[in-house]
Amino acid sequence: MAKTYKIAVLPGDGTGPEVIAEGCKVLDAAAQKFGFKLDKAFYDLGGMRYLAIGETLTDATLDELRQFQAIYLGAIGHPDIKPGILEQGVLLKLRFALDQYINLRPVKLYPGVACPIKDKGPAEIDYCVIRENSGGLYTGIGGLSRPGTRDEVAVQQMIYTYAQVERCLRYAFEYARHNGKKARGKGPENKLALIGKSNVLTHMYALWNRVFDEVGSEYPDVKREYYHVDATCLYMVACPEMFDVLVTENMFGDIITDLAAITQGGLGVAAGGNINPQGVSMFEPIGGTAPMWTGKNAINPIAAIGAGAMMLTALGETEAGRAIEDAIAKTTPKMKSQMANEMGFTTTQVGDLVAEAL
Ligand code: IPM
Ligand code: MN
Repeated sequence: MAKTYKIAVLPGDGTGPEVIAEGCKVLDAAAQKFGFKLDKAFYDLGGMRYLAIGETLTDATLDELRQFQAIYLGAIGHPDIKPGILEQGVLLKLRFALDQYINLRPVKLYPGVACPIKDKGPAEIDYCVIRENSGGLYTGIGGLSRPGTRDEVAVQQMIYTYAQVERCLRYAFEYARHNGKKARGKGPENKLALIGKSNVLTHMYALWNRVFDEVGSEYPDVKREYYHVDATCLYMVACPEMFDVLVTENMFGDIITDLAAITQGGLGVAAGGNINPQGVSMFEPIGGTAPMWTGKNAINPIAAIGAGAMMLTALGETEAGRAIEDAIAKTTPKMKSQMANEMGFTTTQVGDLVAEAL
């Protein structure tokens, strides 16, 4: 009997449903080709639901979501809703409640995709950022004292436990061992670079660096490097070919992966996975809801399709995941641009092209 995977699909707001529709189209084609089944259940979480009934993500829905093998998410956000409500009420709540402590963000320039960096191509832009996804400034610990006065104090703290750092770094070493440039036949060694700010965040990086060496000693096949986060931004533009696998704390990871995304063709292309290696993981295009393009059949679905490929790989359908990536690589050279409305195709047509290439 064909293997069946239970997937919760959260199309979300704005252009989310349009890109997720194309992602599902390609996932279904992959399921047919590789002989497995996807049993999808759709959830209407997001801004529309919040505006209609004032609900973000209830504990009951959360418990339902725990029963799936993976979650496939479009984008959540609404221009009429105050920033923070949906982010904290849905996206971050999912990440935290399901303990998706890794945010895996491959930085891969597909063939034919315009790179804003002169003289850099797919051979140079081919690395991966592992962002810690459960702690740091995102913990939300802090507060205001004496608001509205000259003595007002705002505090928001970067917090990490040893256990959070250790599990993140262990995942990163395992990832570098199995998916580093040597493992992929793209270089002489597998490298893992810790990205931090040890010259200023001395306490925080005393912990991260110590655990990096501690866990790293169990991985003699992975070369250890360390770079400051500011210098990393410079290298990501000047010499991205020096990178293999990068690992960093939550906020630094959030920031550098937007920079990384533009070097790989922008938010229309960049995909990511919120991963709990022992639990329910969630895959999403890392761009937002792009409200101005909603309903125009003009947004780029490549990132959502790529997120679908990552989901299949995580479920163990590695051949199917790779086949979707190959199909994307056959499609991107046919597209005029990766920008919304400038692709030379509609959203639906891009989905068709990838499905046909598959
Ligand atoms: C991301 C986003 C989120 C984050 C926001 C929407 C809360 O920017 O996934 O990178 O900061 O993690
Ligand atoms: Mn971000």
